[in-house]
Amino acid sequence: MSQQRRPLIAGNWKMNGLAAAAAEEIAELRRLLKEKETPACDVLICPPATLIAALAAAARGSSIAIGGQDCHANASGAHTGDIAAEMLKDAGATHCIVGHSERRADHGETNAIVKAKAEAALRAGLTVLVCVGETLAERDGGKTLSVISDQVKNSLPQVASAATTVIAYEPVWAIGTGKTPTPEDVAAVHAHIRAELKALMNDSEAVRILYGGSVKGSNAAELMAVENVDGALVGGASLKAADFWPIIETVI
Ligand code: 13P
Repeated sequence: MSQQRRPLIAGNWKMNGLAAAAAEEIAELRRLLKEKETPACDVLICPPATLIAALAAAARGSSIAIGGQDCHANASGAHTGDIAAEMLKDAGATHCIVGHSERRADHGETNAIVKAKAEAALRAGLTVLVCVGETLAERDGGKTLSVISDQVKNSLPQVASAATTVIAYEPVWAIGTGKTPTPEDVAAVHAHIRAELKALMNDSEAVRILYGGSVKGSNAAELMAVENVDGALVGGASLKAADFWPIIETVI
């Protein structure tokens, strides 16, 4: 954690959440956040697209931001089932995740596609969270840092800046498995990402680099204390305010 970068704790609800229960979770999160006068971190929830408008309304006036989980590279057109970044923005989103490993794996998204989506998100005025991370085979093969370099260099838009771009390091093998890298391993990858960013951006020191993959209340403090870890991207433990709050509490 660093003094110069405001932590961001983001929840990725993936394909989970129906309207009534989701609104209750936001209300509960609002209540918990209100107990802190000025929370020293940003809080973001990325629900399924069907809930963005309702949750943006439920979060209005609070410090909770709402984001999308993916966007199309184009602003409109014949792309059945897809959602443009402009539409996310129109529904009340301020952020968008791109390049999540589940999108890369399930939908064949390459770095080039991720980059085009990130550019679209920035064009629409959204803050973009670009995900990177190695598979278990890549880690076991000693390729972690080269895979991360490749993803960072080729998924980030040229116009990326610290104000509008966040990197999320999510080792694929740590997502939903209960396994996490050691703090030393996280430190090594985050330092590597920081070094890569330096070659790509003028304000690389101000870019927030989140860790994601099996973050929960019981391991968040240890992970958030690692150098160059500026917050978390949380899946399962973000679905319930009661599970998400202890993670937020480690940085406020
Ligand atoms: P889990 O926290 O459920 O491991 O998911 C992490 C993730 O993929 C967030 O984007």
